[in-house]
Amino acid sequence: MRIIHSQADYQNIYKESIENPERFWGEVAGEFVWHRTWDKVMDWDFHKPEAAWFLGAKLNITENILDRHLPQRENQVALIWEPNNPAEEPRKITYGELKRQVCRVGNLLRKKGIRKGDRVCIYMPMVPELVYAILGCARIGAVHSVVFAGFSAGSLIDRITDCGCKMVLTADGAFRGDKKIELKSIVDEALIQCPTVEQVVVFERTGSKSSMKQGRDTWWQDEIQGMDDHCSPEIMDAEDLLFILYTSGSTGKPKGMVHTCGGYMVYTNYTFRTVFQYKEGQVFWCTADIGWITGHSYIIYGPLSAGATSVLFEGIPSYPDFGRFWQVIERHRVNIFYTAPTAIRSLEQAPLSFVQRHDLSSLQVLGTVGEPINEEAWHWYDKNIGKGECPIVDTWWQTETGGVMISPIAGVTPLKPTYATLPLPGVQPALMDEHGKEIKGAGEGRLALKYPWPAMARTIYGNHKRFRETYFSTFPGKYFTGDGCRRDGEGYYRITGRVDDIIIVSGHNLGTAEIESSIDEHSAVCESAVVGFPHDIKGQGVYAFVICYNPPEEEDKLRSEIRDLVSKIIGPIAKPDKIQFVPGLPKTRSGKIMRRILRKVAEGDTSNLGDVTTLLDPNVVEVIKQGAIK
Ligand code: WTA
Repeated sequence: MRIIHSQADYQNIYKESIENPERFWGEVAGEFVWHRTWDKVMDWDFHKPEAAWFLGAKLNITENILDRHLPQRENQVALIWEPNNPAEEPRKITYGELKRQVCRVGNLLRKKGIRKGDRVCIYMPMVPELVYAILGCARIGAVHSVVFAGFSAGSLIDRITDCGCKMVLTADGAFRGDKKIELKSIVDEALIQCPTVEQVVVFERTGSKSSMKQGRDTWWQDEIQGMDDHCSPEIMDAEDLLFILYTSGSTGKPKGMVHTCGGYMVYTNYTFRTVFQYKEGQVFWCTADIGWITGHSYIIYGPLSAGATSVLFEGIPSYPDFGRFWQVIERHRVNIFYTAPTAIRSLEQAPLSFVQRHDLSSLQVLGTVGEPINEEAWHWYDKNIGKGECPIVDTWWQTETGGVMISPIAGVTPLKPTYATLPLPGVQPALMDEHGKEIKGAGEGRLALKYPWPAMARTIYGNHKRFRETYFSTFPGKYFTGDGCRRDGEGYYRITGRVDDIIIVSGHNLGTAEIESSIDEHSAVCESAVVGFPHDIKGQGVYAFVICYNPPEEEDKLRSEIRDLVSKIIGPIAKPDKIQFVPGLPKTRSGKIMRRILRKVAEGDTSNLGDVTTLLDPNVVEVIKQGAIK
């Protein structure tokens, strides 16, 4: 495999990968176990748009994660599970054990009538059984759709019905710091509106009382007991669906991004090994939740397909105290640590003694993902966690890209704080100006990608038209990322943030339209507009401008009702930080809300709001400015 060890390697391999992508990716893919190799490495039509990789090839991804590594790795630890409460014993799951557990789940799914192509919703806490559930689906060719366990019933309903899940795998509850979340009762509430779901299997984690619906619900622990350790892998086409993962969109409905077996496997494995420069025997820890793409690609598929030891952490960075991450690193001798800027910023606020009391000498590589990292957080991370000796890989990518696209290669690429630096092999970025022309050399514009890569999402589940419009209509012939970007004189990329109606709060993508529609469900609310504003810890916070039918009598009471409502419909992560009641919104004559103005108000910068004369009612801007919440 074309692994990069120096900047010269990078230059050469990058060049080759661009000149002859098919040869490059064919070589990378050659290392895996295929039941049949491909007739053609890739096929691409920008206009449809349709991408296919490793056409005609047959495989099962779990054979590449499990069987391929056995018996050699029988006793090597695949997963280190660190529970929410440090007083509870961690669990170490070897590759041998992981295979047996995955097979049991595969057999259970088959016994329950789940077949290749059926969609299974997984709504579970960060326990090893979540990994077994995901890989169990992949073993038998069922399509997993993981929903982050912090989402509420409303979000769960949308995601289950959109792709017609037949089954839900869940738990009685989840531990999160000192809180307990009653997952099963959220599932029960959601399923009232999800007629496609026939069966629910419930893993007992918290011992919470759960009401079990006869004929539909059974306990995981009871079911799994009698299952066989062997489960024949379903032989999949490289382009068969592996999973669906929902991400927020500019319009209300989340988008079910579709990833397929072959390309996703090859790309997550290659990027894991390349970016982090993973070496045999290292312990890798990605702190993301498996409910997001980062957890899919870099807790499960990338590291495990590479035969690495991957840490699975159930808890949160601040429980029982702000030293928790550093304690886990020390406890498990973590070598590569991958987290989000929001976590770094929140830990940076805590006294340094929380870091200093732990031995972090095992660390060799650090990474960040999910949002732009600010200069200060970068230096704090470098100095206090990496002790100035660990390269920091600032990895830019998206749910849609499946794996890392632009990033330093650890120890190889010269770093520049806040820059994601250079594209990985096979990745061809383009910087576009406001007229849709490609910018050459240094400049600032919108980031697009000119050429497909193996892990690109193939479509939005059930809505290819939306896929085309969202990603391929802004710049014909190119994939538009939705991000703003700057390129310096050396060709280094710095991602500056979203340029569409998506905001990134604590590293989570939220669609402003989705938040607005849940605010609008309140009977007192007539209309709302949501924008992001800079937030010290979360990166961006949620600022809502709300019009009520009648001026609210008790503003604070209404604010807390609105927050509760959003929390109930979407999840606590989407709760507005600031709610301003306004008599009207700045709209154009055609009725379009001028979000640019609202963003300025939310940022606290009203000195130059630009031209407001085209507004239907320019006076409303003055009132909004006066009432802005600091
Ligand atoms: C943002 C997460 C700056 C970006 C893997 C992107 C980043 C969105 C970075 C995707 C980074 C991700 N620097 N911004 N290193 N990584 N982003 O789908 O706006 O949850 O479009 O995927 O996060 O978020 P998603």
